[in-house]
Amino acid sequence: MKKIIFATGNQGKMKEIREILADLDAEVLSLKDAGIEADIVEDGKTFEENAQIKAKAICEMTGEIVLADDSGLEIDYLNKEPGIYSARYMGEDTSYRIKNANLIRRLEGVPDEQRTARFVCAIAAAFPDGAVKTVRGTMEGRIGYEEKGENGFGYDPIFYLPEYGCTSAELSMEEKNKISHRGKALRAIKDELR
Ligand code: IMP
Repeated sequence: MKKIIFATGNQGKMKEIREILADLDAEVLSLKDAGIEADIVEDGKTFEENAQIKAKAICEMTGEIVLADDSGLEIDYLNKEPGIYSARYMGEDTSYRIKNANLIRRLEGVPDEQRTARFVCAIAAAFPDGAVKTVRGTMEGRIGYEEKGENGFGYDPIFYLPEYGCTSAELSMEEKNKISHRGKALRAIKDELR
C-alpha cells in the first residue's frame, strides 16, 4: 500500500482528509503518525508557495509522497486581508470571537455587494523524484453582520453563504465538505495522485 504523509498536526483536518482520500488505497499519515517533528517557516507570498514549502521540506526529510495545505480568508473590501495571514491575524493567540468582531467592525457601513469574500485552500503534493503539483479550491461568500452558528471553526461564523441563506458555521461538517475550499482542493489533488 502506498504511503502518503499529510503535513499537518491538526486532527480535525486529518479526519476530513482521510474521509476524502479514502478511496485512494493509500495509508494517509499525519506528521505525528509519521513521527516527524518539524518547524517549517512559512515565508511564501501566496497560499500555493506556503503549501509547496511545507510539502517539499517534509518530502526531502522522509523520501515519501507528502501533501501540505495552506488556507485562509480573503475579504475583497480589505484588499484580500487577512489572506495568508489568516491564522496570525491580530496574533495567533487572539480568539476568533475577537478577530471576527474586528473584521465586522472594519466593514461597518459597507453594503452587501461589497462584502464579498472567499475561503482559499492550496494543496501541494511533493514527490520523491522532485516533482511538485499544486491545486487550489475556493468557496465564495460574504462577510455577515454578526457571528452565527456553532459548527466549523475560525472565521466560519461570519462567512455568509447567500445560496444557502446561512453561514458556514451553520452547515454540518458533511455539508461543508461538499462545497468547501478544502474539500474541493482535496478532491483535485486526489486526481493528481491517481
Ligand atoms: P492554516 O491551517 O495554516 O491553513 O490556517 C488557515 C487559517 O485560515 C485558519 O487558522 C483559519 O483562521 C482560516 N481558515 C481556513 N479555512 C477555514 C475554514 O474552513 N473556516 C474558517 N476559517 C478557516
